[in-house]
Amino acid sequence: MEVILAEHAGFCFGVTRAVDVVYEQIEKNSGKQIYTYGPIIHNETVVSDLEKKGVKVIESCEELKNINDGILIIRSHGIRKEIYEIIEKQGLEHIDATCPFVKRIHNIVEKESAAGKTIIVVGSAKHPEVDGIVSYASGPVYVVETPEDVDNLKLQEGTEICIVSQTTFNTNKFQETVDKFSNSRYNVNVVNTICSATEERQTEAEKIAGQVDAMIVIGGAHSSNSRKLYEICSRKCANTYFIQTIDDLNMDIPKDIKVVGITAGASTPKNIIEEVQKHVRTII
Ligand code: F3S
Repeated sequence: MEVILAEHAGFCFGVTRAVDVVYEQIEKNSGKQIYTYGPIIHNETVVSDLEKKGVKVIESCEELKNINDGILIIRSHGIRKEIYEIIEKQGLEHIDATCPFVKRIHNIVEKESAAGKTIIVVGSAKHPEVDGIVSYASGPVYVVETPEDVDNLKLQEGTEICIVSQTTFNTNKFQETVDKFSNSRYNVNVVNTICSATEERQTEAEKIAGQVDAMIVIGGAHSSNSRKLYEICSRKCANTYFIQTIDDLNMDIPKDIKVVGITAGASTPKNIIEEVQKHVRTII
């Protein structure tokens, strides 16, 4: 029995940085309340560990307005522009742990939108990262998730468009969506803002899924990049399983499985990956 563990599995650079900031602030500031705006990352195990250490998650603008002291840490996938403005206006001590790859998109959208372009964000409208990105546009902005969504966009011929993508979007799906625009009568400028960590992870996961009899993807239920890894792997390997922790690993592995692949989303801690890896070796 062989287990292939993806090299690019687990915390990416942006997530490591954000989580480290929170733990550092807990150490340095005993007695001060530490807050994060939204969960710092999409991983329940990490978020509940931080909660046990006294970190509070602020869920809304209204909650934020009632806070006068403490330290607020901004999550890796960023926040809406007006939330920043509230934080600054209230004079709240804060640390911005927004991943630089996400910050770059905020800057592109702000600049191109101010220059009069229509902004298209390829991504999931419900994801907090995308919600943050669209808030930087001062003019028309649309979110498209599939090539079909492009057909429903009825913009004027010759419209100047700038296309960006959610950092964790599926590379192939992004290309398919962009191709739709290239065949249109719009004036299109594309900036591929899928981050390199995501691209590496997806390419490697796809390759491993194509070589194994079963594939395990570990990630948080709300983690968009983990879900995308699952989609990608499922296309290559019919026996693909999505789990959050070792407790979900009660799947009935078919007897003829000889090689199992394991990958994990960018917000999955190393210890969970190791636990799963050890466990798989014992059950098969
Ligand atoms: Fe940043 Fe990419 Fe991770 S955008 S938070 S390095 S998945």
